Amino acid sequence: MSLDSIRGERGLFTDRATTSYTLPSRYYTDDDIHQRELRNIFQKSWAYVGHVTDLEERGSYFVDDVAGQPILVIKGKDDGIRAFFNVCQHRGHELLCGRGKVRAGITCPYHGWTYGLDGALLAARLTNKLPGFDKAAFSLSELPLAITAGLIFVNLDRSAAPFEEEAENFGESIQKHLPNIPEFIARYRFTFDIAANWKVVVDNFSEGYHIPVAHPELSTLYSHRGEPGTIGRRYAFYHNTARPGYKGFETHPGEPYLSWTFWPNLCMLSLPGSKNLIVLRMSPNGSVRCQERVDIYSAAGPLEPNVDKIKHLFADVFNKEDIAIVESVQRGVSSLGYDQSRYVADEAESWFSETALHRFHRQVLEVVADGTGKG
Ligand code: FES
Ligand SMILES: [Fe+2]
Repeated sequence: MSLDSIRGERGLFTDRATTSYTLPSRYYTDDDIHQRELRNIFQKSWAYVGHVTDLEERGSYFVDDVAGQPILVIKGKDDGIRAFFNVCQHRGHELLCGRGKVRAGITCPYHGWTYGLDGALLAARLTNKLPGFDKAAFSLSELPLAITAGLIFVNLDRSAAPFEEEAENFGESIQKHLPNIPEFIARYRFTFDIAANWKVVVDNFSEGYHIPVAHPELSTLYSHRGEPGTIGRRYAFYHNTARPGYKGFETHPGEPYLSWTFWPNLCMLSLPGSKNLIVLRMSPNGSVRCQERVDIYSAAGPLEPNVDKIKHLFADVFNKEDIAIVESVQRGVSSLGYDQSRYVADEAESWFSETALHRFHRQVLEVVADGTGKG
């Protein structure tokens, strides 16, 4: 379908950020569009679920919810990391909860079917004499999994495009600046239940235009030169630098301030002051709510003092400011008083431009456009 059919009250969404009108507001509220997003985006995209250091030993596991689907990620006896739907193949009970370690196998708490760490059904009580029952036909359902820069991604679609094709050199862009990222450990994890469509939150992360206005403290942490980003097929990477004299904690001139977005709902930051990676994943919870998962990673070993201050700056200052912003925007885009605007985009694609926002919307429309031409 041509994107030229995407029309709002003011005009057309077009290919060029500097002349296009923005995503019409129905894309932030409509339940049918949300269902298409679940099917065409979230059930086909690579989703961040954790880090290899979350699974230190054989049998270590964690469970996750990927856009409403229960997932289990576990380290096998061969040290391989695998992902399965966290669903027993007998009557569908969920198998594991939270994080932890199993010994020999995964035993369902309902009737006790037991699976190996590789997903094979090992034992199913009272099935010995069941005519034609073949345990091999009831293995756990395995999902494609990829690891880059120590980060684990899964895909709900077994015929998904390979991760390397989608991610290109996304992992290299992380490891170039954080060479020890595969050994980083999660220091803090939070989840925030946000009254906004998931795209409003990703939109907010996709542009630095708002930062000097909406984040007065954060904006003193780094230089506002607004250098062009590195744009991949499914990710964007921006490299800014620390500004001398930040009051919150010690930084060094030229220290990097890095940010990434990775299709569709992953946003990451590495702030100056220590080696750290703040990972945010926005999962839809209906059309007008989402859950923001945050994992803050830092180098293994004793905690560098600035990491705690960076956590404070993130959790108590600018993420709080961002949540208030996105919830306000959701009320606004849901109102009768707003439909569309223009992207404040520059051709150089600087961090302060809304070009990345336009690119994100283009990718959304490519797979969920309603084509109604509705004004
Ligand atoms: S549902 Fe798992 S053993 Fe019955
Ligand atoms: Fe922000």
